[in-house]
Amino acid sequence: MSLEQKTALVTGGSRGIGREIALSLADNCAQVAILYAGRKDAADETVRELEKKNVKAMAVQCDVSDDAAVQAAFKQVKDAFGPIDILVNNAGITKDMLTLRMSAEDFAKVIAVNLNGAFHTIKACYRDFLKLGWGRILNISSVSGLMGNPGQANYASSKAGLIGLTKTVARELANRGVTVNAICPGFIETDMTGAMNEEVLSKAVAAVPMSRLGTPKDIAKAAAFLCSEDAGYITGAVLQVDGGMYM
Ligand code: NAI
Repeated sequence: MSLEQKTALVTGGSRGIGREIALSLADNCAQVAILYAGRKDAADETVRELEKKNVKAMAVQCDVSDDAAVQAAFKQVKDAFGPIDILVNNAGITKDMLTLRMSAEDFAKVIAVNLNGAFHTIKACYRDFLKLGWGRILNISSVSGLMGNPGQANYASSKAGLIGLTKTVARELANRGVTVNAICPGFIETDMTGAMNEEVLSKAVAAVPMSRLGTPKDIAKAAAFLCSEDAGYITGAVLQVDGGMYM
């Protein structure tokens, strides 16, 4: 079966890596929905770009850390597009600070968006995946979750947690035609890395064997593959797309 009739949903699809993943899934899917936190202008712009690719597209504002909001947003998408075949958990935030000075609120907030958010969306599709007997779940983790990173106790914990979630759901759904994988990007050129100061950024690039930042397209190409029919025997995998940072 090709992906021609499939529906994809990408969280945090309004900009950065999520936007590029949504656009690349649009090359093979019939319908693409994005969830976004607040920037309606960016979400509307992504919807226009998706429609140019001849897919049906919609954007729903939804804070993924809020379970009830996620269930309501998924109902809205499913009412319009039917069941979701491909779920990409990309929404993520950082609130960096050395552990000593990190507040409990900032620790909890990052876990709530990056990890609980993915749990909420997976639950919102789980039953449908069982019924469909086919599905793709892709979680966007980070090399921080594999290596740790000073100042990112909250973020690295959330991204390491996503790997545990990936492997667990992969095992639960392996014999139901549903694959569940994670991508760990390295440093990618987006608003997130744009917020880093020059010195931190040049140190970061120096740690990349390929001596450059990655692009959202680098991640989107790997994502499109893991969500494709061709990747049907890959599940529970954690794929680094990081220019060789973690090996
Ligand atoms: P970004 O900051 O450019 O975009 C983040 C997206 O997440 C936006 O669309 C935003 O609307 C959405 N979002 C944030 N909080 C949300 C919430 N509570 N509910 C729903 N949506 C929410 O980030 P970027 O760089 O595109 O990152 C995307 C993913 O890739 C994140 O999970 C991030 O942790 C991960 N990543 C990024 C790296 C980088 O170097 N840029 C490196 C490794 C991982």
